[in-house]
Amino acid sequence: MSGEWLALVESDGRAYLLQRGSGEVRVRGLGRFNVDDTLGDVVPGDSLVIGQKTLRVVNPGLPEARRAMKRRAQVILAKDAGYLISRMGISVGSTVLEGGHGSAGLAMHLASVIGGSGKLISVENRPEHATVGRENMETLREILPEFPEWHLLESDLTSCKEEVSALTDHLDAVILDLAEPWTVVSDISKLLRPGGRLGCYCPTSIQLEKSWEACESAGLYIEWAGEVIERRWSKASRGGVRPGNQPIGHTAFLLIAAEQLVDEE
Ligand SMILES: C[S@@+](CC[C@H](N)C(=O)[O-])C[C@H]1O[C@@H](n2cnc3c(N)ncnc32)[C@H](O)[C@@H]1O
Repeated sequence: MSGEWLALVESDGRAYLLQRGSGEVRVRGLGRFNVDDTLGDVVPGDSLVIGQKTLRVVNPGLPEARRAMKRRAQVILAKDAGYLISRMGISVGSTVLEGGHGSAGLAMHLASVIGGSGKLISVENRPEHATVGRENMETLREILPEFPEWHLLESDLTSCKEEVSALTDHLDAVILDLAEPWTVVSDISKLLRPGGRLGCYCPTSIQLEKSWEACESAGLYIEWAGEVIERRWSKASRGGVRPGNQPIGHTAFLLIAAEQLVDEE
């Protein structure tokens, strides 16, 4: 069916997204080939060979879109995106502001969770990052069964409160992933609905401390601060499973501030 998206997945999980009807393409990692001749009448579950690679054909979802996405700025990984989303209560129908948008790593997770009844406002001040982020989001729009009302403001978050207010009269959540989150906390937190939450993704402890102080000065309560450490296990060559050899990498400290403090269960 022309227009249909398929994911081709390597044995290590690397994925490539292809759309039927695209004709001749050049795909990094696979080379140049004709999509329609190569896909022929394969269906999800089949395998095919391109060059030296054997690839399994599957229907793409968020994991395949994430693996195949174009990257320019550093992206938020699933371990941090998932934690922020669930801890901040972001769900179907939520209205969320995120900035900076970068390559859309976080935005892709947000879009898949809030669904067609949600609203996502992304802000990015570097046009070259916005272009990559938009491309990743437009591909995701075609893949997901539903997609939120999405606005990408190519603006600076320090001065776009009015642009955001024109799009919504309330925000359920705000997530800041930019070098100086503390410069926007005061202004942007005024748009949070009662009980709404603001999250900051802070690669360094200085960013965490400054954001913490800015949140408190803005009258927010710090609900949770810390980091999520992921330790992957693998299969040992002589049997058994054990923690893998890959080092545990630091990504960022997360800060979650609430418009109103709620007691921990
Ligand atoms: C680390 S990247 C964001 C990555 C994104 N969250 C993801 O998961 O793919 C940070 C982005 O913030 C943007 N940025 C920095 N300061 C900004 C500001 N004041 N307003 C809007 N965007 C900003 C940068 O251009 C950059 O693209």
